[in-house]
Amino acid sequence: MQIHETAFVVSTYRSYFEEISKDIYAKLWNNKATDALIPSIFESISKDEAILHCLRNRFFYERMTSFFTENNGGTLINFGSGFSMYQFLINDNVNTIEIDQKNIIEHKKERIDDWISQGKLPRREINYTSIDFNQNTEQEIIDILQPFIKKRPIFILIEGVLFFLTSKTTNKLFKIFNKLQNQGDMVGSVSYLPEIKDTAVYNRLLHYFDSNNNTNDSFNHQTIANTFYKNIEGYILEKHIDEFELAKIYIPNNTIKNKTDILNENMYILRKS
Ligand SMILES: C[S@@+](CC[C@H](N)C(=O)[O-])C[C@H]1O[C@@H](n2cnc3c(N)ncnc32)[C@H](O)[C@@H]1O
Repeated sequence: MQIHETAFVVSTYRSYFEEISKDIYAKLWNNKATDALIPSIFESISKDEAILHCLRNRFFYERMTSFFTENNGGTLINFGSGFSMYQFLINDNVNTIEIDQKNIIEHKKERIDDWISQGKLPRREINYTSIDFNQNTEQEIIDILQPFIKKRPIFILIEGVLFFLTSKTTNKLFKIFNKLQNQGDMVGSVSYLPEIKDTAVYNRLLHYFDSNNNTNDSFNHQTIANTFYKNIEGYILEKHIDEFELAKIYIPNNTIKNKTDILNENMYILRKS
């Protein structure tokens, strides 16, 4: 599976349980190639993947909605935005900056422009920019983004991306966030804890990527300890929750017994101090 295919897979997952994800537009991205991939992912890795991604979406949807409601608008900067559709789900006085690799961003802009003109999506102020987080320097990324920032405060989202990046790129991105944001602004981030490496389900995920990577699309398999988020310069860790706990809130009758049975991602909300 190539990295760009993961963006289609995640988007399709969100369409499976709309009442949980709250993403009524995810289904626009559904396609036959992705539908054909998903049964083998459920079988080889875990059948819970779709619902867990819906929980993750729900968590950030609620955090962003309350942030932009309290602040009467602002800017959402979505790093590695894939095909996520928050820009149409959150308050309409929010500008969005969508950042991803060139092929994803070009495809996303083209399809979204079509759907807006067909009336399938509401109009929104959206900027698209292609950046490779590994290639561009800290200053280059700041220089690309600054002109797009017309409204404050800023909520930065980096969801489903850090797994693919190195710690060097991750540190660079958090320095960029610190330079772009002002006091009170927020970052929402997702990652796996290092202890997941001991679980069978995580090893099945790595095996799946290794055995389905027919293009040698190289990426890291990053996990991040909680201490990283507690020690980020310029930020206070405001909230930390994992998908196992989110499941108890949004699917009270769920059948997940142990957090080690699932690909349990951790969600963090940081506030700029
Ligand atoms: C699993 S998808 C998640 C997409 C979206 N955030 C979501 O949750 O639906 C991972 C995304 O990260 C992007 N990505 C991975 N490595 C990247 C890099 N070095 N530079 C820019 N984007 C990257 C991919 O192109 C892809 O869209």
